Amino acid sequence: MTARILLLPGDGVGPEVVDAARRVLERASELWRLGLELESGLIGGAAMDMEGDPLPPSTVAACKAADAVLLGAVGGPRWSDPSSPVRPEQGLLRLRRDFDLFANLRPVRVFPSMVDRAPLRADLLSDVDILFVRELTGGIYFGARQEDDGSGEAHDTMTYRTSEVERIARVAFEAARRRRHRVTSVDKANVLASMRLWRRTIDRVAADYPEIGLEHVLVDACAMYLMQRPSGFDVVLAPNCFGDILSDEAATLAGSLGMLPSASIGHGNFGVYEPIHGSAPDIAGRGVANPTAAILSAALLLRHSLGRDDVARGIEEAVKASFASGLRTADVAGPNGRICSTDEFTGSVLDLLE
Ligand code: IPM
Ligand code: MG
Repeated sequence: MTARILLLPGDGVGPEVVDAARRVLERASELWRLGLELESGLIGGAAMDMEGDPLPPSTVAACKAADAVLLGAVGGPRWSDPSSPVRPEQGLLRLRRDFDLFANLRPVRVFPSMVDRAPLRADLLSDVDILFVRELTGGIYFGARQEDDGSGEAHDTMTYRTSEVERIARVAFEAARRRRHRVTSVDKANVLASMRLWRRTIDRVAADYPEIGLEHVLVDACAMYLMQRPSGFDVVLAPNCFGDILSDEAATLAGSLGMLPSASIGHGNFGVYEPIHGSAPDIAGRGVANPTAAILSAALLLRHSLGRDDVARGIEEAVKASFASGLRTADVAGPNGRICSTDEFTGSVLDLLE
């Protein structure tokens, strides 16, 4: 087996956490003889600085030549001038859109040794096992947009087509089949027309999956239930924007935004894998970022794009065991915990892989 993986570190803590994941991929490649070939490319603010484009043609070409992409994070205060016509985030959004990566999978699990780190009571957390299925190439992120051109008005449009809702619904129902057979679909159908189309379409697709239990929950209520009864969820199916917001909320269950990985996939095996967290400019360059989300994203890459569930599990177990051994980066250390660096945590994962 050989496979080409493109690393797109991006901005802020991106390079640090992608470097951690690269070390894990290289070790896994040796141990399991995966023949991984790793290359790096530019995206986001880093690409704007070098090439004047947050997703330069060279990066698009490298993505096309790769079997999968591991991405760090994009954005930061240096490129955040609201009057600037180009932003780092546009690189990521174009990558998702141009490669038709319409399904974003965000698994949320709480490591047993971490239940005391979340702000919720431990008894609410023990059985949490949620898979967010976030629609990624439609909705308000990609609808018609008008910047304020001096008129004192701007707008973004939430648009969904039946075909877009259908295909993401099928991803969610298929995932539920392999899990606990429940789908919670999130919408705001009491107010928004696009969300009434969403709900009707989900109901129609659900008819093909009689063995799956379906509930519709309004997004505001869903935000509350995630804190009230997080273990009651199995698959949560959400439109682009709501999925973005709810998955950050759900990260508090796992102890920190630094814990959760994601997989952005489309029709084939190609995918883009990235932490759900952002570039965290406040802690960038200090070697203290939590590499867990990036390392677990590498595991998802091996599982979904390369079909190596066995290796993915090996990595996930090594991360779990590192937490069980008491190692904690600053974001999850708590008031009395000893704080380890990105490097120390990654070193532990590497040791435990063997
Ligand atoms: C995410 C991020 C992105 C999003 C940003 C960086 C554009 O928040 O992947 O969750 O909103 O999708
Ligand atoms: Mg987000």
